[in-house]
Amino acid sequence: MTQPVTGKGLDRVDARLKVTGKASYSAEVAVANVAHAVIVSATTGKGRIKPIEIGAAAKVPGVLAVLTHQNAPKPPGADEPRKNAQDRLLQFLQDDEIRYDGQPIALVVADTLERARHAAGLVRPEYDVEKPVLSIEAELDRAYAPKDTPRGPSDKKVGDFDAAFAKAAVRVDGTYTMAPENHNPMEMHATIAVWQGDDKLTLYDTTQGGFIVRQKLAALFRLKPENVRVISRYLGGGFGCKGSPWSHVPLAVMAAKVTGRPVKLVLTRQQMFYFVGHRPRTLQRVALGAERDGTLSAIRHDLTGWTSRFDEFVEPSAAWTRPMYACGNVSTSHRLVRLDVATPTFMRAPGAASGSFAMETALDELSYALKMDPLELRLKNYAEKDPDTGRPFSSKELRACYRQAAERFGWARRKAEPRANREGTWLVGWGMASAAYPAHQRESSAAARVRADGTAVVQAGTHDIGTGAYTIMAQIAADALGLPFDKVRFELGDTTLPNAPLAAGSQTSASVGSAVKLACEAARSMIVSAAVADPRSPLFGARPEDVATDTGTLVSKKDVGKKDTYAAVVERRGREIVSTIENKDVKSREAYACHAFGAQFCEVKVDEATCEIRVTRAVGAFAGGKVLNVKTARSQLLGGMVWGIGLALLEQTVRDARDGRVVTRELQDYHLPVNSDVPALDVILVPEDDPHVSQVGAKGLGEIGITGMGAAIGNAIFHATGKRVRELPITLDRLL
Ligand code: MOS
Repeated sequence: MTQPVTGKGLDRVDARLKVTGKASYSAEVAVANVAHAVIVSATTGKGRIKPIEIGAAAKVPGVLAVLTHQNAPKPPGADEPRKNAQDRLLQFLQDDEIRYDGQPIALVVADTLERARHAAGLVRPEYDVEKPVLSIEAELDRAYAPKDTPRGPSDKKVGDFDAAFAKAAVRVDGTYTMAPENHNPMEMHATIAVWQGDDKLTLYDTTQGGFIVRQKLAALFRLKPENVRVISRYLGGGFGCKGSPWSHVPLAVMAAKVTGRPVKLVLTRQQMFYFVGHRPRTLQRVALGAERDGTLSAIRHDLTGWTSRFDEFVEPSAAWTRPMYACGNVSTSHRLVRLDVATPTFMRAPGAASGSFAMETALDELSYALKMDPLELRLKNYAEKDPDTGRPFSSKELRACYRQAAERFGWARRKAEPRANREGTWLVGWGMASAAYPAHQRESSAAARVRADGTAVVQAGTHDIGTGAYTIMAQIAADALGLPFDKVRFELGDTTLPNAPLAAGSQTSASVGSAVKLACEAARSMIVSAAVADPRSPLFGARPEDVATDTGTLVSKKDVGKKDTYAAVVERRGREIVSTIENKDVKSREAYACHAFGAQFCEVKVDEATCEIRVTRAVGAFAGGKVLNVKTARSQLLGGMVWGIGLALLEQTVRDARDGRVVTRELQDYHLPVNSDVPALDVILVPEDDPHVSQVGAKGLGEIGITGMGAAIGNAIFHATGKRVRELPITLDRLL
């Protein structure tokens, strides 16, 4: 038998296309006669738009339309009730209200981008300005409990926190805050909207979920979903902001309708900070009670986050804590405060990147209060089963993660005392934290087509958001079909392909990968059945179970001289073998708690005089079930850890308190880690066999890499300096 390719660190099949510019991103798709649209954004954070004078813009040569709330058409489904959270994401010029800074207030369409931009600059709206409310702290008495979070109920209580906390021998209690952040994928959001007649629409859209875009736009414009086609073949990063359509999508569709031409709308980098989602600002209170020996007796984790006035998103940070540690008294809650901000959304490891910061920092504080090693403390409270649901874990190699990362890092040599390590003017500190992210699997479809040339095309309407899905799916398909890797091509990113879930939540490998595997296994059986039923095949009359398949050939197990090939079987049949499956079997794991786990260890150096902070080493060990491609898996984890450095030390979207304007609206102001901020990072992939979690055995590794990093770095800073900063990002002014 040929060696399986699943798991191997194969290069991305789309790498060459991307680096040579041959992969067409949404904004680059060549569409004939395309017009260009530019959004005019509000330049204040709250108020009413006075009547907009559009004459100067409309007179610019080449301008085809200038839309404002005064003349924009109303999409026929605009008033349909939208009840679910995040259903009112879209603002498309329907009224004069400004709800947040940067909101679209006009749209200029012209024959060239330059003319559209020039004309957009001539739209100079005036406002009746109101003062936006932007402070969670000022509105705390109006905080409300959302019905639900993306990770279960808002509030949950196990045991009796209050009684246990009151009796605890050692207690810590702190409030941890995190700045709002913006996703900032390299590729800006973009849409090209093309109408075919009045009832058919094609969108080339930067999205992680073509089927979601289809559903929302079909409802808004009252089209049959099958008449809306969404294509998104390559994505320059998603991270959650491309998980749902934002205002620019209906605006492009409206503009195409009004002008009778295809319309391309690409956001500017500034607009990436306005209306395409962000991680909300959050306050988290964590209180922990423990016995003298470190046994946790009480855990409380409460989150308060902001949302917009018109829609709801909850960062499910307290839910992160629920499955983490063995403790009988756990109280968790989520509250929201409505402010004059755009609606936040899922951002890489929603709830987990933030929740782990608060919880894992509080544990670090507890370790000092107990005079106990932070790793020891976590091992002392290791959860053998899920304390939240009582279910067994489908698998959990967290102990191995702790051990391997600690060994690689040299944790055993750590001096317990803060400020005990110095190199010249640098204070050196070591910190650690646990990492975790839930393993989701959703229903997904896939199709496998085996062709007369002996190659296969495998399809699912999923997306490769930079994770390597193109490659990983082809690896799974090759092994399941019994074909060499280079004979298999995977197609994605089109709603004409079999339905697949949102490429988010670290669920694509498990969901789509499992569907691909099952579709390909079924196709392989169909080839065998076709061969043994075909009088022209040397295998005619054999029992299917007596036929072995490998590298595109069929061989009789009874008589190795009897052979056939996939190509010949399909050729004689006269048409492709097509197997399409809908994998609904995603419930078998409901008996288990399914999570990927990991451990993060970091070293920082802090200059004693200037408080300059450098992350100098980091080791992360992760167990996420079966690894489908060691190279792309490692890349995801590295990327997550790099982002964790940004989350801990750099990233914050700053608003002007006077008028709500986002002031960090360029990458020169919104700081991301650059090469000099990132040391050599060490990623350990801990083997984990999980028979329950999904048909491919994978849990998903797209988000766990960022979790725990905020705390591990903050804990290392405390160890270096003896100063605890409970606010992210930990900038040097907060440390001084
Ligand atoms: Mo991710 S925040 O689930 O795209």
